[in-house]
Formats: sequence, C-alpha cells, structure tokens
Amino acid sequence: MTARHIVLVGLMGSGKTTVGKRLAARLDRHFVDADAALEEITDRTIAEIFEGEGEEAFRDLEADTFEELLEHHEDCVIAAGGGLVLRAENRNRLRRDDVTVVLLDASPAFLASRVEAKAHRPLLHTGESARDVLTRLHEERAPLYAEVADITISVEPFHAEEDKPKQAMAARLADLVLAHEAQVTA
Ligand code: S3P
Repeated sequence: MTARHIVLVGLMGSGKTTVGKRLAARLDRHFVDADAALEEITDRTIAEIFEGEGEEAFRDLEADTFEELLEHHEDCVIAAGGGLVLRAENRNRLRRDDVTVVLLDASPAFLASRVEAKAHRPLLHTGESARDVLTRLHEERAPLYAEVADITISVEPFHAEEDKPKQAMAARLADLVLAHEAQVTA
C-alpha cells in the first residue's frame, strides 16, 4: 500500500508547523517540516539561498524537496512553506488522491499580528511591513490555496475561543482528515 500524506498549507504565521506537529502526534504519523527538510538536504539555509541565488532558485529547490518528501513510504504530516502553491507542478502533486491538503486560513491582519520575522522568512525582511507583505501574498495566493485544499479551517475562531488554540485545531483536524481519508479510500 502506498503512503498517504497530509500537507498543511497557508501563509506564514498561520501555525502550520505547530499544528502539524500536534496533528502528527494525534494520528501517530511522522511530522516533516518542508523548510527544515530543504535546509537539511541542501545543507544551506533558506536565507542563504534567497540571498545568493534569489527566490526562483529557492522555488526550484522547494519543488524538488516536496517531490522527494512525497516519496516517503510511511504516512507523514508535512508542513509546507507558504509559497509551495505558487508552482503548478506542486499544485498538481497536492491534488493527488493520496495527499490530503489542509489549508490554515487567516486574515493578513491577524497573521501580521502574530508572525515572527524568523531567518527562514526572507520575504519579511524587505523593509515593507509584515501587514503589507501578507496582504499582497494573501491576494496572490488565496485562489491557489483554494484550488488545492481538501479541508479548510479558519484559524482565528480557535484563537478567540480556545485556551489552547493549536491543540484544539489539531484535534478538530484529526477528525476532519480521517473522515476525508475514509471517503476517498471507500
Ligand atoms: C515562504 C514561506 C516560508 C519559507 C520561505 C518562503 C513564502 O515558510 O518557505 O521563506 O513564500 O510564503 P513558512 O510559511 O513556513 O514560514
């Protein structure tokens, strides 16, 4: 039997890594952070790649890494980089039946209030405000996320209503993913 993977997509700051780790623990699957995997495979940091060769070179490596991660023979939860959906080849991979795509959806204002300008996020180091960057990326990417998502979850209500929003999101997602997988494999 081939492995089934769950891929979390969404903009920077939506919580893909934390929620993905918790979801993986709940479903007893491996967790993989795609950005960390890319840095390990290339032995370079994302910041170095952006600075040395530019964004397109990073996107090439991101696509290669993602293709490789999907070959993993055990079921994985993969937290994707926010821009994975930009390339059509990645969107085609995300639409495969053995891949369940979860979109963590949130408004640019909410994301800007939470996102950290970490080193692996060179797009937040351009001098523009995080809110402006995220507003632009949201406009560009919202249709692409919608094109690939099997499940969409709104992040903000969990933050407004739950003591442990990311735990609660992971619990809800575990149910949604299992229901989705049961449907596609029936
Ligand atoms: C990017 C998001 C980052 C990282 C890179 C580009 C993007 O990942 O892949 O800086 O284009 O949105 P996170 O979404 O995990 O921060």
